[in-house]
Parts: sequence; structure tokens; C-alpha cells
Amino acid sequence: MFKPLRVAIAAACLMVSATLGIAQEPIVIKFSHVVAPESPKGRAAEFFRGRVAARLGSRVRVEVYPNSTLYKDRDEMEALQLGAVQMLAPSLAKFGPLGLREFEVFDLPYLFDDYRAVHRVTGGPIGERLLDKLEDKGIVGLAYWDNGFKDFSANRPLRKPEDFRGLKMRIQSSAVIDAQMRALGTRPEVMNFSDVRDALRTGMVDGTENPPSNFYTQGMHEVQKYLLRSNHGYLGYAVIVNKRFWDDLPGPIRRELQLAIGEATEFANAIAERDNARALEAVHRSGKTQIIVPTNAERAALKRALVDVHKSQASRVGADLIQAIYRETGFDPARK
Ligand code: LMR
Repeated sequence: MFKPLRVAIAAACLMVSATLGIAQEPIVIKFSHVVAPESPKGRAAEFFRGRVAARLGSRVRVEVYPNSTLYKDRDEMEALQLGAVQMLAPSLAKFGPLGLREFEVFDLPYLFDDYRAVHRVTGGPIGERLLDKLEDKGIVGLAYWDNGFKDFSANRPLRKPEDFRGLKMRIQSSAVIDAQMRALGTRPEVMNFSDVRDALRTGMVDGTENPPSNFYTQGMHEVQKYLLRSNHGYLGYAVIVNKRFWDDLPGPIRRELQLAIGEATEFANAIAERDNARALEAVHRSGKTQIIVPTNAERAALKRALVDVHKSQASRVGADLIQAIYRETGFDPARK
């Protein structure tokens, strides 16, 4: 059915039912994600649910399905494209399998020094152009939410590049992260986030990389003896919605949802840094994982071992895109 006709019929039904005072079935938004409710993304999804309830009452109901309870990594993007769920907030490292290799630029080690540098990209034209690329995949990109900067973990002490050699490391589905791990002489293994803790516990993989909030809220401190405060790469999210669902919404409802997304984005990016700091503190207090802080020389050696990934992956993510980010953030490959 043509969209204008679909929309006209929907509007007519709304009008008739409003006139007759018939209670409207709420519009349901299923929001699926793979992290714990108490993680930054989990808290932001819950905050969004609350803001929609405050703004739209019974007209729209957001149902949040955390911790892979509805879909795991591998299935959630397809479920969104099929309309089985309406909203996701996948890691920016998980868009390569959709054919959107450019998103893996966010995975380049040491690309961003801090959140301010990240926001120069996610809050400006470069980030906007990347979200626009989602439309061809039947997806609308609504916002970027932060998590944090990743640390390596394993069951052997990690300090120098050679300490990584031979380890089997779990990674997200990103060719850039695959290249990063191979640059350290490890064997990368793509795996659903929900399966990582058990894979570490059983020794199916030896180590991985996470922002502290994900490491702690998944209980990885109970199965990883060492965490190196490498802070070597950024992990953030694109908040996305099924395009057909979004386009078919009545205008006033879509506008209220956009405002609620804006409020949730502000909330997400305000809590991310603090939540990661608190998670690291909790790991320390647990006494189950030894936190290793690299010396400046060790940090520089690790960066030297990894920063060439920018060159090796330029043909994949786009050399122009990398240069545009360098200019926008003042990135200096030689910076210690
Ligand atoms: C991971 O798979 O490690 C992360 O993308 C999980 C998440 O959504 O933070």
C-alpha cells in the first residue's frame, strides 16, 4: 500500500476514534539491547522509556528488553530491519556486517584522546553524514550515546605488546578491531556479547577489551585476573529505529519521540564517564582483578604497536574520513 494512503487511513482512524473517544491501542516501541540494565546504555534506554511515558502517556509504550533477553548481537540488527523490534542502540563497531564499513572508524585505536574529541565527531557534520548512510539499510539513525574507553583484560599480566602474543581475544564484529588484535599477535574471535563471560570462564577465549562499565556489569572481573588500563579505543553507540516504522508515525508523535531521544542522549552522555569510573572502582574493591596501570613508556610502546592500524585500515573505513576526523579533533599520531 502506498505510504500516503497508509498514512491517510491511519490519520482517519485516529480522528474517528478520537471523536468517538475510543481508547487507542498504544503504539509499541520494542527497544532491545545486549548490556546490563545498570550499564550506561541500559540506564539511558530506561530513561528514554520514562521520558516517552511523560511526554506521550498511553499513546506510546516503550518496552525495553535488556541484556540480550530478546535478541543477541548477531540477530538484533536483522530483527530491526524486519520490524520485529523498533529500536536498538548497537555499538558503532557492529555496523560493518551491514556493509557500513565507515562506522568502524570509531574503532581505530587511540583515534580519540577523550570524550570531548569524540563529541567533535558525533556532535558535528561527520557524525551526521555517517548516520545518513543508514537510510539505505531501512534504518534511521537518531543519536549517538557514549559508553567509554576500552581496557584490555586477560588471565595473564598485560603490560607490553609482547605480553599479548598468542592470546585468543574476544572482539566485536569489526575488521578494524580484528586488525588491532592481530597487530598484537593475538587471535581475535568475534562473539556475541552475551556469551563473553562464559567464554572467559571456560577458557574458550583468554581475554578481551571493554570499557569498565561493561567489564563490571557482566561480571567479567570474576573471570579475568588482570585488567590493563590501556584506554586504547572508544566504544559508543548509534541509537537507531526501523525506518518504515519511524516514517509512518503521526508527525506530532514523532516530534515528541525526537525530543525524548534528545533528553535521553543528554542523560546518556552525562553519566557515561562517571559510570565507567565507578565501575572501575568497583572492580578494584572486588579484589578479584588486578588493575595494571601502564607506565608512560609502556603506554607509548602499546600505542606504537597499534597506531599503524590507522594506515592498514584506511582503505576499509575511508582515508578521507580518517583525515577529516584528524582535522576535526586535532589528532596527532605522534602524540605520546
Ligand atoms: C560489545 O559487544 O562488547 C559491546 O558492543 C556491548 C555493548 O553494547 O556495549
